[in-house]
Amino acid sequence: MLKKIHHVGVVVQSADEALKFYRDALGLPVTDDRVIEDQGVRGVLLKIGNSEIELLEPTRDDTGVAKFLASRGEGMHHICFESDDVHAELDAARAKGIQLIDEKPRLGLAGMICFLHPKSNHGVLIEYATPLAGGRH
Ligand code: CO
Repeated sequence: MLKKIHHVGVVVQSADEALKFYRDALGLPVTDDRVIEDQGVRGVLLKIGNSEIELLEPTRDDTGVAKFLASRGEGMHHICFESDDVHAELDAARAKGIQLIDEKPRLGLAGMICFLHPKSNHGVLIEYATPLAGGRH
């Protein structure tokens, strides 16, 4: 079951620069900040209520996030819905004929995650996430 908006992903040129707004000006606390090597991004999570803002800064040029930044510039990238069972959610989406990006869930900043293609979702990239038990998210 989808429970809430877990986070909204925002692609930025520089997370350090973006933190001057989200952390320093808005006062949102940083809950995680790390480079995910295999995805080629630095991800920074900031908490707002029960949800988060996820800043995504590409760390190399050959990733989807880097291509997004190059072609569309900084801005909103995806919405992530939290589920208690990301595997079941992905199976249900597949059964409904929704176009997928990930054929199976994988480990991401928010736990076990997968993406649905924006072509099936009215132009919005959708992420499903199940936070890891005992994890920070
Ligand atoms: Co995300």
